[in-house]
Amino acid sequence: MRRITRVVAALGILALIGATRQGPQAPERPQAPQRRQVPQVPQSLTVASPDGRTVVTVAANNGRLVWSATRDERPVVSPSRLGFTFRNAPELGAGVQLVEQARREQDESFTLPWGEVARVRDHHRELRVKVAERDGLRRELWIAVRVFDDGLGFRYELPQQPNLGEFEILEELTEFSMSEDMKAWWIPADVSSPDRQEMLWSSGPVSKLRLVHTPLTLQSSAGLQAVIHEADLTDYAGMYLQGRSESRTLTASLAKWRDGAAVKGRTPFRSPWRTLQLADAAEQLAPSTLTLRLNPPSRIADTRWITPMKYNGIWWGMHVNTMTWGSGRLHGATTANTRAYIDFAAANGLGGTLVEGWNLGWDVDWMKQGDGFNFTTAYPDYDLPGIAAYARQKNVALIVHNETGSFVENYERQLDSAFALYQRLGVRAIKTGYVGDTTNPGGHAHQGQYMVRHHRRVIETAARHGISVVMHEPIKDTGERRTWPNMLSREGARGMEFNAWGGEGGNPPEHETILFFTRMLSGPMDFTPGIFNLTITRSGSNVPRTPQDSRPRSTLARQLALYVVLYSPVQMAADLIENYEGQPAFQFIRDVPTDWDTTRVLHGRIGDDVVVARKAKGKDEWFIGAITDEEAREITVPLDFLTAGRGYVAEIYRDAPATDWMTNPTALTITQLPVTRGEVLRIAMMRAGGQAIRIRPAR
Ligand code: NOJ
Ligand code: CA
Repeated sequence: MRRITRVVAALGILALIGATRQGPQAPERPQAPQRRQVPQVPQSLTVASPDGRTVVTVAANNGRLVWSATRDERPVVSPSRLGFTFRNAPELGAGVQLVEQARREQDESFTLPWGEVARVRDHHRELRVKVAERDGLRRELWIAVRVFDDGLGFRYELPQQPNLGEFEILEELTEFSMSEDMKAWWIPADVSSPDRQEMLWSSGPVSKLRLVHTPLTLQSSAGLQAVIHEADLTDYAGMYLQGRSESRTLTASLAKWRDGAAVKGRTPFRSPWRTLQLADAAEQLAPSTLTLRLNPPSRIADTRWITPMKYNGIWWGMHVNTMTWGSGRLHGATTANTRAYIDFAAANGLGGTLVEGWNLGWDVDWMKQGDGFNFTTAYPDYDLPGIAAYARQKNVALIVHNETGSFVENYERQLDSAFALYQRLGVRAIKTGYVGDTTNPGGHAHQGQYMVRHHRRVIETAARHGISVVMHEPIKDTGERRTWPNMLSREGARGMEFNAWGGEGGNPPEHETILFFTRMLSGPMDFTPGIFNLTITRSGSNVPRTPQDSRPRSTLARQLALYVVLYSPVQMAADLIENYEGQPAFQFIRDVPTDWDTTRVLHGRIGDDVVVARKAKGKDEWFIGAITDEEAREITVPLDFLTAGRGYVAEIYRDAPATDWMTNPTALTITQLPVTRGEVLRIAMMRAGGQAIRIRPAR
């Protein structure tokens, strides 16, 4: 591990010697000492990224606290407000001056127990600025800024002080005043059930945005990519971004408690990091590790029990109406069904089996009466201890489902006893769920502080019991997997399930080509790919197919490609197991790993297509996933990542000439091709198609 940590200039010292304004040209060099009166530090302080390209400024402009950023000396974020409004206390962020600064630079690397990369380099420069009100309450805060070559983060720190103890933040005043009316890729946060983030993406200029979720991906006319998000969301409220008509300024908008407060706390206190990832091209946005670098190191010392895996499950049947969660003739979670799924997993190298609908509570309108969910008592036709023992014997992880219906208190009451039971049964992973209306009596905003605390409590309790977590309808991912690597994966976007439901219809073919450059930048997603029976319609009805039908708008090759494109340490083989019988294409799912040494985006245009190459952890084996939107495309990619002088075989799963997602989606050609470094692969995809490739050393 390389570690250079140096204090470049320390707080009071600069104030005492009375430094003069530091220009952006020489951000790190202390100026010659001179005698000056208040203010004791320059009222505009800058810090540059290690490569010098990105410069962040924190300033008090006529007493208003602002930040701004440039890249290659061109403005990216114009002076933008910082501060808070409180309940029963004046706003903080006006009438202030900068009074101290501290600087350091750090360059160190850390390994991840699992991920789309194995190792992360954290090289940044930090500026911390102490800010004080000039009169009145004379409250103080610090702004901490870290600037990396690929972006920046800043956070608020509120020290303990006489006039700022217990507080309720009503709004955070943070602005992102974009210097250009960049094109944004967004999902709304102000529609019904907004917090689940399961909406379709739209694009348009910042000046047309209303309330949107993060990560928010932006593109400038010159090709600069910028992603606004947050890191280390701990005991705080999730941040949306609020646009204003014909304005390029986006303002932080925090999810609220029922009583209108956003964040309840007491000093000392600090906010999550507000992050801005920057890149010169869309391909350089992934893999994104910025938020990981802004989270504390792992709190779990020995992570060997945390295992990435593929899994199957009693799940899709409920979404296509061949099984039910609740009891009755079609009850999915029976002992016999579960044993069959475990057998299939064991026979095909899948590490786990998920079972939904095993526990009491489903036989009511559970989205409204989720307080009846019982997390320890199984339906009579489900032998929980017997199944757990069977799974252990077959070396398959039983993934226990905990749907809360968003009745969180009911879940919290049972958390300790349920997790203790699972641990006794040898259960190593659970899937949680928060379907349900947050307007239920006692409901809490999905992205609010209450739920942030709840999810953290679940993760920590699970860790104590040796259990890993996959969350649906989650709090957004802000990189906490670095600190809690048992936080494996989550939903937080439209997954495969939407393709099974009626109503507004499924995901358009472009959906995953957008996800890759937006939601996936925040962390793994439990998308649940791998549907092989692509012409199924809900309820088994066999009506003529139109694009409005509830079925995946995808070819079979594309279903395979999603395992590589959409990263998750847990990847479901989501279809009914009978739909995999006798399918040569299933070999790709057997082979594809869920843990990687490195990731390279070979090609990508947001909303059009993506080609990703990933190297299997600890092996000289590469996997390529390519997907396109509603247009057929051919993309050439150089195999310049292979080891020179070594012979490889590419096992290619591609759309056949006759493949068409609507009329003939499962047509697929499997070929083998000898390849070496430097060769160029031509990847041809039909509309809504894709291609999946395994490249292994020649035998
Ligand atoms: C929605 C989840 O996304 C899905 O995976 C689950 O089956 C249902 N809720 C029921 O919990
Ligand atoms: Ca969901």
